[in-house]
Amino acid sequence: MMRDTLPAGIVDEVEALKREAGIAACSFVKGGMTLGLGTGSTVRYTVLELGRMIAEEDLDVVGVSTSEATRELAEGLGIPLLELGDAGRIDLTIDGADEFDPDFQLIKGGGGALTREKRVAAASEAMVVVADDRKQVPVLGRFPLPLEVGAADVSAVSEELSSICSGQVSLRGGRDPYVTDNGGHILDCEFGPTISEPLDLEHRILSVEGVVEVGLFVDMCDAVVMSTPSEVLTMVKRGGRLG
Ligand code: A5P
Repeated sequence: MMRDTLPAGIVDEVEALKREAGIAACSFVKGGMTLGLGTGSTVRYTVLELGRMIAEEDLDVVGVSTSEATRELAEGLGIPLLELGDAGRIDLTIDGADEFDPDFQLIKGGGGALTREKRVAAASEAMVVVADDRKQVPVLGRFPLPLEVGAADVSAVSEELSSICSGQVSLRGGRDPYVTDNGGHILDCEFGPTISEPLDLEHRILSVEGVVEVGLFVDMCDAVVMSTPSEVLTMVKRGGRLG
């Protein structure tokens, strides 16, 4: 979202970092896997690389998309797709993130696809995040926390959220609200870097009537492939499913 209002030269550098992380994550992929395909500008490079591996290296994988945008991209690349409900076990999901903390907890939803991203991640045996080093934070919350709400519930949820959220609650798109793949809207909630207990906060927000999903991904991510200007680092969570 807001991160990409950067000068052109820096945007090129950031794009190169996204590409490196997105491609490097394909080292986790093995033939025969069912893969959750995330959404966003970093994991887009993963999907492009998977398309190349299928076309040029006969990689045999099936994808489950987390958004209509990723579905279109994957279909165009000839990646076979299954619906989440038909996929059974998903071996691995690769997705982007807006922030990750030292415990591999995430904020996601900058692209608005958090609900399906979370369902796909929850159905997965493991999750790898692809990110550049701007996404690494000591404490979550500098990036406004997205949540999806039913279109009819925006006002009631915003009001309720004002007692939970320390800053502003904004309807994404304002007068021309952003519409998710599910027909819902997104509220972006400012906390500042204060989210040290993401599980508690997730429960509190999900208890508000009208909230469909919140972009806190707690204990879902097992590894982060992070690009920096000098290298690509793969950080695997100790005690996680890939550790
Ligand atoms: C999509 O809803 C998001 O969760 C994205 O995965 C997240 O915003 C990261 O996207 P970028 O890779 O485009 O920064």
